[in-house]
Amino acid sequence: MKIAFIIGTRPEIIKMSPLIDEVDKRDIDYILIHTGQHYDQEMSDQFFLDLELPQPEYNIGVGSTTHGKQTAVMLEGIEGILSNEKPDIVLVEGDTNAVMAGALAAAKMHIALGHVESGLRSYDKTMPEEINRVVADVCSSLFFVPTEESALNLIFEGLNPNDIFITGNTVVDAVFRNLKIAKKRSSFSDIDLDKKFITLTLHRAENVDDEQRLNNIINALLELKGIEIIFPVHPRTVKNLQKYDLYDKLDKSEHINLIKPVGYLDFLLLLSNTHLVITDSGGIQEEAITLNIPCITLRYNTERPETVKAGGNILVGTNKNLIMETVHGIINEEELYHKMSQAPNPYGDGKTSEKILDIILQAYNQGELTIKAPENIEGLEGRYIQKVEDDLDVTSYEVENPQLKIVMVFDDNRAIFPYKHLNLKNKTVFVERFHSNKID
Ligand code: UD1
Ligand code: UDP
Repeated sequence: MKIAFIIGTRPEIIKMSPLIDEVDKRDIDYILIHTGQHYDQEMSDQFFLDLELPQPEYNIGVGSTTHGKQTAVMLEGIEGILSNEKPDIVLVEGDTNAVMAGALAAAKMHIALGHVESGLRSYDKTMPEEINRVVADVCSSLFFVPTEESALNLIFEGLNPNDIFITGNTVVDAVFRNLKIAKKRSSFSDIDLDKKFITLTLHRAENVDDEQRLNNIINALLELKGIEIIFPVHPRTVKNLQKYDLYDKLDKSEHINLIKPVGYLDFLLLLSNTHLVITDSGGIQEEAITLNIPCITLRYNTERPETVKAGGNILVGTNKNLIMETVHGIINEEELYHKMSQAPNPYGDGKTSEKILDIILQAYNQGELTIKAPENIEGLEGRYIQKVEDDLDVTSYEVENPQLKIVMVFDDNRAIFPYKHLNLKNKTVFVERFHSNKID
């Protein structure tokens, strides 16, 4: 079997790394395709060094440009590579433009696509990431979702429940694997990790490209005196802070420490020692709850609602007063701080990459990665809701009713997943009726 990994940006390198390690450990053939969306030493190469990853066989070198051009160049580049390499499966992770390009290329070439961190939804189509996630999921053959919530998002979009696997998120694997190494190897020359400090990251397009929102956030930070804020600044944010004349204001401020983006080991060290984190990053919302660090998210919605429900994350948008009140609240109210830092981690036990690879191998061995055109005349006749009276599980229900396929199971009126193992007696099911004529 041969796997093609597609990566393009900092978080994809980090979150794919446990899976690449696992594939290496099991001696499976693979290639790494870097689209080159991130290219600075501190946004790309540093992560290959920190995570001890091999250099990619291919780098498309797309660089920074408009969404359309970036996606088109990546799509063309990936298509060429896949047609030469002929992998059995392509793996993409998350929601960047690299993910959408990789997903489209694989699907159009009838190559199986595994989407790692599938099923996340902010339901905000102004985010480029939301479009990328939805497109990638439409193209996927195997959906590796982190939680039940993300599985249900996919089922309600009509995607096949049999291909959805709750695996947790590889970010937990990455944190568990690298934290010890980080604590041993990493150090900061100019940051005292024993002092109370806040870590801040900011890069989301809808925040940093918007002058008003960026101003609100920066004004809140400037007024949050009394506690040091360590701010590794993403290159997109540097550009916009300079454009809107905010960079020097921050730089001159005594309590704000602007630094370049740091490598993964340094960032883990920073995050694990921070009092709280303020961010608009997706991955950092997950890492914070994994490391028991309270998180304030500078967004109006999140595709990681599990962190909010668990009590570890508070959304504050970009409202200056709300940002300041929330930071003060968490710092000053011991009970709230304790509750947030004790929030249970919804993203798994650090064995996500093992689970994903087991599922891929099983599908490969059963010939399920081969995508073939249909040979039967078939179609969907209708969709129904039904209360099940008999003692049946999903498999026996579908054997008894060969034209019906269970899509969703409701227990006490609540949609649940997974449901394969459940006794359906007295539960309500949502089913689809198919007709199929075999042509010889
Ligand atoms: C991208 C992803 C985003 C992800 C983020 C991770 C998309 C649409 N966005 O956003 O989902 O959260 O990566 O960090 O895929 N730049 C450099 N050096 C680099 C890379 C970028 O200077 O190595 C600058 C360029 O000025 C560029 C800007 O940052 O125009 C934005 O880069 P881009 O890759 O387009 O988007 P990100 O904001 O990094
Ligand atoms: N990160 C890092 N150095 C930094 C900032 C972030 O190594 O200076 C890591 C962080 O640990 C997380 C990932 O980058 O795993 C998050 O990337 P980012 O916020 O850029 O993207 P997102 O997760 O929002 O897509």
